[in-house]
Amino acid sequence: MATAELSAFRASALHFLSDPGSEGSAQSLQYFADALLVVEDGRVKALGEARDLLPTLPEGTRISDYSGRLIMPGFIDTHIHYSQTDIIASPGRDLLHWLAHYTFPAERNFAELTHAREVAEFFLDELLRNGTTTALVFGTVHKQSMDAFFDAARARNLRMVAGKVLMDRNCPEYLMGSPESGYRESAELMEKWNGTGRLNYAITPRFAITSSEEQLRQAGKLAREFPDAHIHSHLAENEGEVAWARMLFPWSRSYLDIYDRLGLLRNRAVYAHCIHLDEQDRGRMTESGAAAAFCPTSNLFLGSGLFDLAAADRAGFRVAIGTDVGGGTSFSMLRTLSEAYKVSQLRGHTLSPMRAFYLATLGGAAALGLEDRIGSFMPNREADFVVLDCQSTPLLARRMAAASTLEERLFLLMTLGDDRAIVQTHILGQPMIG
Ligand code: GUN
Ligand code: FE
Repeated sequence: MATAELSAFRASALHFLSDPGSEGSAQSLQYFADALLVVEDGRVKALGEARDLLPTLPEGTRISDYSGRLIMPGFIDTHIHYSQTDIIASPGRDLLHWLAHYTFPAERNFAELTHAREVAEFFLDELLRNGTTTALVFGTVHKQSMDAFFDAARARNLRMVAGKVLMDRNCPEYLMGSPESGYRESAELMEKWNGTGRLNYAITPRFAITSSEEQLRQAGKLAREFPDAHIHSHLAENEGEVAWARMLFPWSRSYLDIYDRLGLLRNRAVYAHCIHLDEQDRGRMTESGAAAAFCPTSNLFLGSGLFDLAAADRAGFRVAIGTDVGGGTSFSMLRTLSEAYKVSQLRGHTLSPMRAFYLATLGGAAALGLEDRIGSFMPNREADFVVLDCQSTPLLARRMAAASTLEERLFLLMTLGDDRAIVQTHILGQPMIG
């Protein structure tokens, strides 16, 4: 039998055991100023004080010394479009204008496999450069866009969840599928990729506006046939969109009710935005086990509205963070947390840094139903982690020197930090940058 491969990483370390809630309870996290993270065969073997764990290591164990840096579980981005990498920072009047003018034409290019492959490689490089180790990803309507993406993610051994977009109306002819083709191609991709390596498949209707009732029914049928599959869509992002959706489905009580009645609300269903919901909708989110991806940079950039985190907390449904690139303006989860804080300020409640980093790690894992595999340093979790430099710029270093608590340091990191703070990203213990 081959001996297990053991490695260890010395740094400060932070991870979450549960949701710290809006008050940021300290019992929900573990922090070690001088920690050792021990990894065996790509999984967490132990995390603790370096002085306790160092003597337990077999002689010759490789120790990566990141002293002075901070390690955390890799960031989990619960809503992003790989196919929109090249239209990030394209100014639209609003969501529907932006979709028609930039998004649909850009997605057309993914009919070509070589283009899809090239973008997938760049996209994954960019995620890793920003410390993101898992993402829930929209492809395009083209089946080969998913083969390209999954191939690229598989080659790097990444834990990714993604799916082919379903559309059969209210989009250009060149992106239009049908209920039957959407069902068949999704099922084929699911059989091929779901559970291959670390990959999972998400049933991905774009939103209620671009799917006929029959296509959403077929998506619901897929969801029943594949009870472990993820579901990924957009919901209640923009007021014009909400009004249009209600018109297209006159029987619906609300926008969310469309997905609900067609069997698309459940555990492992992640809905981006969820801004314009009422209390009954929020209650259904909670009962069904679905999660909301809060995408602040996108919501501000497209002028969509302000996500109500306090209302989500009162209702008790799962929330995680999405960059929503290319409607969102940054691949960086640090930049995204900073904007999430500002949106919360405008809503009149606060987002503690503890909660923010929970949402970006274990909270994301919980939204994806993957918290037993990723999102924390509990024993046996997959060792995907990020190494952060809390002094990555002169200003951050200067401001950090005046911070005395962990909470202050985390707040500075999310408010002033960006990709420059990412020193290294490890996948199953292996360094991926450089
Ligand atoms: N709603 C439907 N499609 C999209 C998209 O591509 N981006 C965003 N932000 N919202 C959408
Ligand atoms: Fe989106």
